[in-house]
Amino acid sequence: MNKQRRGDGSLRHLITLEDLTRAELDALLEHAQRYVCASGARPPMNRALDGMTIGNLFTEPSTRTRVSFELAARRLGAEVINLEVQLSSRAKGETMLDTIHTLESLHFDGFVIRDSEPGVVAHVAANVAAHVSVFSAGEAHVSHPTQGLLDALTVRQHKGARFEALCIAIVGDIRHSRVARSAYEAFTALGVGELRLVAPPGLMPEAGLFPAGRRYATPEQGLMGADVVMMLRIQKERMAQAEIPDGDQYFARYGLSAARLRLARPDAIVMHPQPMNRGVEIDSAVADGPQSVIRDQVRNGVAVRMAVLETVLRPRPVRA
Ligand code: NCD
Repeated sequence: MNKQRRGDGSLRHLITLEDLTRAELDALLEHAQRYVCASGARPPMNRALDGMTIGNLFTEPSTRTRVSFELAARRLGAEVINLEVQLSSRAKGETMLDTIHTLESLHFDGFVIRDSEPGVVAHVAANVAAHVSVFSAGEAHVSHPTQGLLDALTVRQHKGARFEALCIAIVGDIRHSRVARSAYEAFTALGVGELRLVAPPGLMPEAGLFPAGRRYATPEQGLMGADVVMMLRIQKERMAQAEIPDGDQYFARYGLSAARLRLARPDAIVMHPQPMNRGVEIDSAVADGPQSVIRDQVRNGVAVRMAVLETVLRPRPVRA
């Protein structure tokens, strides 16, 4: 049985983008686009999730993802409870699932979960009551589906919906990155023309993963003519001490400076999921420069999460 779909094929949870079709991705992105608003404008709100309660359970640090999931749920009229999982009963040995079952008795309708262990999100999803939905907010190095969607939405806004025409370069610690995995799934399902993976050997994913990606050892080769340059943070927390590259050396070989960015197309956009290590994977002048769409990514995070919450928790009746 599919781990995230109902019997009728609709999405009951969002754990991964791996089985989403292009039509489903397009529908989610179009739905999200309706919730995008200009900075300074009053954000769109409705009562689509009126009476529902969502719990945020994060066992890894998060700023943007947690806040934007919370804002998304509130702007759709849901009540949101943030649970400090490290501080509460999980630290005393209670499993994530026991916590969830306790909360189910308190009439929660959905759980947003970030966890450092692969499989926990899917395990919870497989064991919650039938009316409850689970949303991944980042699973170990494995996936980060709403980030993949907001990255796709950001590309679409700046480069149009014809992904076939685009060359996207993902640069940096791809090996340990859930952001890269979900972005890869979204971009390939949307039909991207060319997808490049640019990383030093130790940060390149194992052979066989990212099968549609062309591998490049240096940004000098990998950035040439790219439309989109997606930089990644070095995931020190997922590496042994000896594997962590020296920041200055890394910047010299792989960091995105203004000079390196000139290898890409003149109208290329620069993305980064944040948090950024300025001066390690990206120069401040580029992160804050005219080609950067990093703030758009953050803004799009709320819109995408509104679309996901609404699609999953308020499915339209399926016509026979
Ligand atoms: C990312 C994450 O947690 O996976 N952050 C985010 O959600 N925007 C990327 C990272 O931590 O490097």
